Amino acid sequence: MASTLFASLALTALGCCFPGVNAFWRMNCGIIQLGRVDPIVNYDGISGHVHIIGGPNNFNTTSNYDMLRNSLCTSCTIQEDKSAYWTPYMYYQKADGTFLSVKNGGIIIYYLERGQGIVTPFPPGFKMISGNPGLRSYNRTTMTYGTADNPGRPVADAVSFACIDYTKPYSETAGFPSDMNCPQGLRAQVHFQTCWDGVNLYKPDNSHVAHLSQIDNGICPPTHPKLLPHLFYEMYYNLDSVDTSDGGRFLLATGDTTGYGYHGDFLNGWNPDIQARAVSNCLASSGSGQIEDCPDLNASNDVASGANCPLQPPLVDEEISGSLTALPGCNPPTSGPERVRQQNCPGKLIPQTNTDGQKQTPVPGNTTVTLSSGSRATYAGCYVDRGDRALPGASYTDSVRMTTESCGAFCQGKGYSVFGTEYAQECFCGNTITSANSSQSDCSMTCKGNLATYCGGPNRLSVWKLAQAGSSSSSSSSRSSTTSTVSTQITSSVTSKTITTTSLAAAATGPQVQNANYLGCYTDSVDRRALSGYYFNSNTQTLDTCRTAAENNGFEYFGVEYSGECFAGNTISSSSSPTSQNCNMRCHGNSSQICGGSNAISMFESLRYVEAINKADVAVNNGTASGSFGYGGCYTDAAGLKRTLTTYWFSDTNTTVEMCLTTCFSKGLSVAGVEYANECYCDTEIRNAAIVAADSECSMRCAGDKAEWCGAGGRISVYRQKIAGRTR
Ligand SMILES: *[C@@H]1O[C@H](CO)[C@@H](O)[C@H](O)[C@H]1NC(C)=O
Ligand SMILES: *[C@@H]1O[C@H](CO)[C@@H](O)[C@H](O)[C@H]1NC(C)=O
Ligand SMILES: *[C@@H]1O[C@H](CO)[C@@H](O)[C@H](O)[C@H]1NC(C)=O
Ligand SMILES: *[C@@H]1O[C@H](CO)[C@@H](O)[C@H](O)[C@H]1NC(C)=O
Ligand SMILES: *[C@@H]1O[C@H](CO)[C@@H](O)[C@H](O)[C@H]1NC(C)=O
Ligand SMILES: *[C@@H]1O[C@H](CO)[C@@H](O)[C@H](O)[C@H]1NC(C)=O
Ligand SMILES: *[C@@H]1O[C@H](CO)[C@@H](O)[C@H](O)[C@H]1NC(C)=O
Ligand SMILES: *[C@@H]1O[C@H](CO)[C@@H](O)[C@H](O)[C@H]1NC(C)=O
Repeated sequence: MASTLFASLALTALGCCFPGVNAFWRMNCGIIQLGRVDPIVNYDGISGHVHIIGGPNNFNTTSNYDMLRNSLCTSCTIQEDKSAYWTPYMYYQKADGTFLSVKNGGIIIYYLERGQGIVTPFPPGFKMISGNPGLRSYNRTTMTYGTADNPGRPVADAVSFACIDYTKPYSETAGFPSDMNCPQGLRAQVHFQTCWDGVNLYKPDNSHVAHLSQIDNGICPPTHPKLLPHLFYEMYYNLDSVDTSDGGRFLLATGDTTGYGYHGDFLNGWNPDIQARAVSNCLASSGSGQIEDCPDLNASNDVASGANCPLQPPLVDEEISGSLTALPGCNPPTSGPERVRQQNCPGKLIPQTNTDGQKQTPVPGNTTVTLSSGSRATYAGCYVDRGDRALPGASYTDSVRMTTESCGAFCQGKGYSVFGTEYAQECFCGNTITSANSSQSDCSMTCKGNLATYCGGPNRLSVWKLAQAGSSSSSSSSRSSTTSTVSTQITSSVTSKTITTTSLAAAATGPQVQNANYLGCYTDSVDRRALSGYYFNSNTQTLDTCRTAAENNGFEYFGVEYSGECFAGNTISSSSSPTSQNCNMRCHGNSSQICGGSNAISMFESLRYVEAINKADVAVNNGTASGSFGYGGCYTDAAGLKRTLTTYWFSDTNTTVEMCLTTCFSKGLSVAGVEYANECYCDTEIRNAAIVAADSECSMRCAGDKAEWCGAGGRISVYRQKIAGRTR
């Protein structure tokens, strides 16, 4: 029952924005590039403002469809989708006038079936922008196309924000919310145009596309008869990554302090066959949203894409993160209400070498890799593998995640000392290699799990030998067997922060915290967090403040990083593995304690963690009568008037399943549901065509009892009264 921040927040969106459930899929994207890059608006130039980009590794100022298709990998999970997705970066302007960059929680991309008619896949070369960077107020006058039966609505509604605070129901706002205190992040949302003129792949004024009459549903104008997949972005900004106690303000990279100028860009890079199949098989029919349920997409789904395809070096020669005296690109802060013209200050591009990100060819006897066990392996060369297997020991195939390191870990685990990768996705083990060696250029297929490295070729093995001595027999962490220890060993210099370390003598037993076990120092990366259920940053962080937060929010694991960052979750990501280095920074709030390091997290297991459950049998008693209820499933729920249970509801900071059931029972209502941690709904039946969702989607713990599940955003945990006399 692991719930990740990504998953639970993503589902929240469905409750809020999509009444009714149509087919869709959604995908997470890591960040591939940050900077003033925008190949749609500023082709071969410098963009007016800083963007956050998810997509292929070779994204640059001249990206077009063919270039995207030629990239090695994408930071989005579906590797057959090399599209680029981008939105503005965010800053905080301090009271003294300087700026701080705001961290991002990642992008979630939805493909939804909306409107009426047959969905046409995005054609090669297609691009579009939704939203208008120049707006600084809500424009009621510019409307979508509409008719008497299908009225239009303000185009401005394509962009909105939700301030996420698990302790409160949230509402959506057209511009920034008035209170930017959002402990679980500010979610910016962009609906794209779904109607296409069927002719133009792009027009600078975006008149080749038009919104549906109701933006997220409705009809297309007669001028734009072709229905496209409905594209929807959610971008998370971790507002609490900056200290706002000085009373400054948040603003977009455009200088927009209002949020009305939020926008998103899309440059299609799909494999046309895969997109067409996914649109007809997974968009137009079923569609749980899970990529795993869509074979056409699951085949190339790499859940570790953020780590396998990490942030690339900057393209523009300027500082964009950390503390700045001005916004990059001369964007003065503007608050409207009148429109703002984009300034376009010059900038200098960093000449690119190695634009497709290909790594150097390994050199026999010289190139080494480090396995997750700490052992090193040295490259032995490219060898022929034809007829009898050159490496006859254990073997396996992984068409998504194969890397040199994962093959090495597999063979080492089976007791072999030589291993080889072949045909991008196969791994073979042995103790000697005696077949003929081959030209290095024959081993030129890139590994499925890390396209910047080589994994043999057809009938050719990239062979590696494990170092014989030196490395200790086994990893000391007793915990390592329960987490995936396959390390992809991506060292992304661009993501690592520069730190001044105060070297500390390594403690023999590790840090001690009450009610928790220390698991060791683990690797972490901004693209794929080791723990992704909960996050807060504090300049008074200690191991105990983080432990308490994990306990209060019902998480099993917690960890502290970079002196002040606390993370918690119920699973440790497979991209994170034990490391002996880098947990060497003191906690901001207690200099006697270690709080991780740069890209390294001091990992703990809470002993106060309790697994949450859905209860099969709950007795209720209101003083005059008694009865019992049982769990009946996790259902969808839409906000507004189309609630799943409508007769009575309340919200309480201490809501538990028992409290809700007793209330509904007392009112003579036989169906009860708990939602969004603290809400309770009662009725006599399920209404408004709500459908059953996976139990795992009801992933929020009850506000009043962390050992019970209480729905989620847009998901309600339903209980039904049992009929007296009937055997259970
Ligand atoms: C962008 O990347 C492509 C390779 O994908 C390369 O051919 C092109 O020269 C690059 N453009 C610039 C301006 O560096
Ligand atoms: C609002 O939209 C109307 C119609 O497109 C336009 O004339 C007007 O300038 C816009 N107002 C602002 C403040 O952008
Ligand atoms: C999705 O792909 C993964 C990895 O290839 C595979 O293990 C899994 O069984 C697939 N899931 C489904 C439902 O086909
Ligand atoms: C082997 O590696 C060393 C250091 O990494 C480097 O200086 C040397 O040039 C390499 N030799 C070859 C033949 O590539
Ligand atoms: C095979 O290895 C030998 C010795 O290292 C080398 O001289 C020869 O060039 C290699 N053959 C090929 C085809 O690379
Ligand atoms: C600081 O950390 C040390 C070592 O864990 C601990 O003994 C001490 O009580 C802590 N101090 C405070 C004020 O919490
Ligand atoms: C809810 O919990 C708080 C904090 O434990 C407590 O002060 C309050 O009395 C409780 N309210 C109800 C209605 O139980
Ligand atoms: C208790 O529940 C019963 C059955 O739903 C109901 O008829 C009765 O009015 C309730 N009594 C009180 C005091 O809530």
